Amino acid sequence: MALLPILRFPDLRLKKIAQPVTVFDESIRQLAADMAETMYEAPGIGLAATQVDVHKQLIIIDVSEDKSDLRVFINPQLDHCEGLQEGEEGCLSVPGIYDKVERSERVTVHYLDLDGQPQSLVADGLLAVCLQHELDHLNGIVFVDHLSQLKQLRIKNKLAKKARVTA
Ligand code: NI
Repeated sequence: MALLPILRFPDLRLKKIAQPVTVFDESIRQLAADMAETMYEAPGIGLAATQVDVHKQLIIIDVSEDKSDLRVFINPQLDHCEGLQEGEEGCLSVPGIYDKVERSERVTVHYLDLDGQPQSLVADGLLAVCLQHELDHLNGIVFVDHLSQLKQLRIKNKLAKKARVTA
């Protein structure tokens, strides 16, 4: 296993559209395993392949308290989105920034597992938020894209200042 570098907003590679996975071989298992190690190390509760500069439709999520519920979603599609919830979101690609985003309360996701088998899941609460956040990444969208232009500018300035200090 290996830790993978995480792209930081506003890196343009975060805007790439991920392609469907068509081959279910050892390399896709390795990618999921490396992403899991990277996510737990960060630490975070979700990671999209886009964030590690791999533009394939694969996301991982673990919203458990004790890292015991790793879920891998390949070629995920959301439907039956119902209700609304608003919660504070953060992102491993936008370190130190948290803001409120409106999401569906309950979603159904259809996806493939690591064996390429079709699966579906009905999710609500935090898991539903996480699915919507990670699916956005596969479509080149970062949570700050949902915020006002003014907030986005402030976030870019803040991150640029931090990058200069730590460079
Ligand atoms: Ni994110």
